[in-house]
Amino acid sequence: MGSLKLKSNASNLTGEIKIPGDKSISHRSVMFGSIAHGETVVTNFLPGDDCLSTISCFRKMGVRIEEEDGIVRVFGNGIEGLSEPTELLDVGNSGTTIRLLMGILAGRPFFSTLAGDESIAKRPMTRVTEPLSKMGAKIDGRKNGAFTPISIRGGKLNSIRYQLPVASAQVKSAILLAGLQAEGETTVIEPASTRDHTERMIRQFGGEIHRNGQEITVVGGQKLTGVHVHVPGDISSAAFFLVAGAIVPESEIVLKDVGLNPTRTGIIEVLKNMGANLEIIQNENSSVEPSGDLIIKTSSLKGTVIEGDLIPKLIDEIPIIALMATQAEGVTIIKDAEELKVKETNRIDTVVNELKKLGAVIEATEDGMIIHGKTRLKGGIVSSHGDHRIGMMLAIAALLCYEDVILEKPESISVSYPNFFTHLNSLL
Ligand code: S3P
Repeated sequence: MGSLKLKSNASNLTGEIKIPGDKSISHRSVMFGSIAHGETVVTNFLPGDDCLSTISCFRKMGVRIEEEDGIVRVFGNGIEGLSEPTELLDVGNSGTTIRLLMGILAGRPFFSTLAGDESIAKRPMTRVTEPLSKMGAKIDGRKNGAFTPISIRGGKLNSIRYQLPVASAQVKSAILLAGLQAEGETTVIEPASTRDHTERMIRQFGGEIHRNGQEITVVGGQKLTGVHVHVPGDISSAAFFLVAGAIVPESEIVLKDVGLNPTRTGIIEVLKNMGANLEIIQNENSSVEPSGDLIIKTSSLKGTVIEGDLIPKLIDEIPIIALMATQAEGVTIIKDAEELKVKETNRIDTVVNELKKLGAVIEATEDGMIIHGKTRLKGGIVSSHGDHRIGMMLAIAALLCYEDVILEKPESISVSYPNFFTHLNSLL
């Protein structure tokens, strides 16, 4: 594990960035391509470590997948075409891979085991193993199926009507993927709307799925057919440069082809509420997933309150929003975000502790954090703790520091944004 001296004392960030492909959509394109019939061609696929873990798991189940220069070709033989893996399915750092994959494996008549890195070993799996067990899958794992390693013997599934205990797109998607293999209608009820890429992709691959208020229903036994999937840029990656452009003096950054799915645009709402100088140019030609270009300029920001149904629409952006709040006049309160505790790290702790080291006035609460601005950040030795989004947030924080900043464990950034530093350097 290395460390990296970050660029500090920056001003005048200018330029244009083509944001890399969306992580959530890239994962799903390989998964749906693998369970569909025929060839799926994915353009602008994100070659981050997490999505490569998904490819590797499906290859171990006999799916032919070719990957070159951001184009992925998946040769699916239908869900029945998946074969029993002879090796452990290693999901690396990826929660999306393990949770969605469990939904697929629940209906497959074979045995498999899943595990990942030390972060995955701490993340709760009962939220997925419980509903899938209710549907009839035989699942076990460490601490009664709560943690990895997890083993699954799938098979015939019964449908289920299930109220999600937490607003989680990963859990919703796992149940829908199992529901596609179950007898009859499976319904998931979400407490708040979460990202709907799975629902959009089921339709894109020729399947049917219905939404009625907070209820989503899918019928088992549908045949999916391979298609072309264009992956828009990841708004969760764009968020780092949106905040950089807003808080670094004399900046103007253009972000191209950013996904603008309304279940993901909480960051844009927050930027507007805080008074950011942001322009959105919607792409009128985007079909399955809306997208557009964003132009952000240095802004004078004010504090805000982020809570309730907005939280799932920006859950991955909270680390970088916390940094932005240190540069806003007044108080910012983030609440109803206890899910942060079970991400790649406990992000309430990692955000608060690392930003404090740089001189931020920030305190942890039970379900979020409170940030007082505006603070001049100094410098110091900080760590990503192996969490990609903490690493990138600290690299943007360093730009404002008047002393040197050293980042420990910078390599975790390749989980979702392998060319992050190339893009950042191009703006300097
Ligand atoms: C994801 C859903 C979110 C998000 C994660 C990706 C997905 O997790 O934090 O980075 O692709 O479905 P939860 O749905 O568990 O909140």
